Amino acid sequence: MMLSIAVPKGRLFDHTYELFSKVGIRLDRVKKEKRKLLFDFPEYGLKVMIVKPMDVATYVEYGAADLGIAGKDVILEHMADVYEPLDLGFGYCRMVVAEPKDGPTIDKSIGLKVATKYPRIAERHYGKKGIPVEIIHLYGSVELAPLSGLAHQIVDLVETGKTLKENNLVEVETIFEVTARLIVNRSSMRLNHEKITAFIKKIGSVL
Ligand code: PRP
Repeated sequence: MMLSIAVPKGRLFDHTYELFSKVGIRLDRVKKEKRKLLFDFPEYGLKVMIVKPMDVATYVEYGAADLGIAGKDVILEHMADVYEPLDLGFGYCRMVVAEPKDGPTIDKSIGLKVATKYPRIAERHYGKKGIPVEIIHLYGSVELAPLSGLAHQIVDLVETGKTLKENNLVEVETIFEVTARLIVNRSSMRLNHEKITAFIKKIGSVL
């Protein structure tokens, strides 16, 4: 039986590639065959699934993948019931609330509108503060929302802060810090305890 792992595309992929190289797992085939989504590596006892970062927690929670590499943002948005044995340290960024530097472009008295790719995180954040909000779910370029009058504030990730700055937005507060985590399906953990523990140990030893 091979262990399966959901690996995110995009910026987290390069970090994952480096991390796996350190433990002797070469994902070069994944880099080369850009359109292929499922790779068997019998030499490592591993099946690699290439998924959108936002989908990693879903694959692991449903058990379609035994393991996965997911940002804390994705784990919290999905409220995924998974085991989270390792903080991988890479992919550092922050989940923040931001708004226009020069004040809102629409009247706040109509109720606060918040645009985000993370509706549940945003909902919980304002809910805890007792602030009623209308959440507007977007799929990208969230920073445009306050500039165009779609929303008063955004909840989004900030890495360098350049995107906020170039769009005249300022941070209001940090909700939490984000790094990539190794996550494990709970029943896989019980069923394949030995193999998974060995994998976690191997990865943990090079962090
Ligand atoms: C992410 C995030 C911010 C930006 C932050 O978006 O949603 O927009 O990066 O990075 P910075 O602080 O270094 O500028 P992404 O590039 O994934 O694009 P998207 O908005 O289309 O999701």
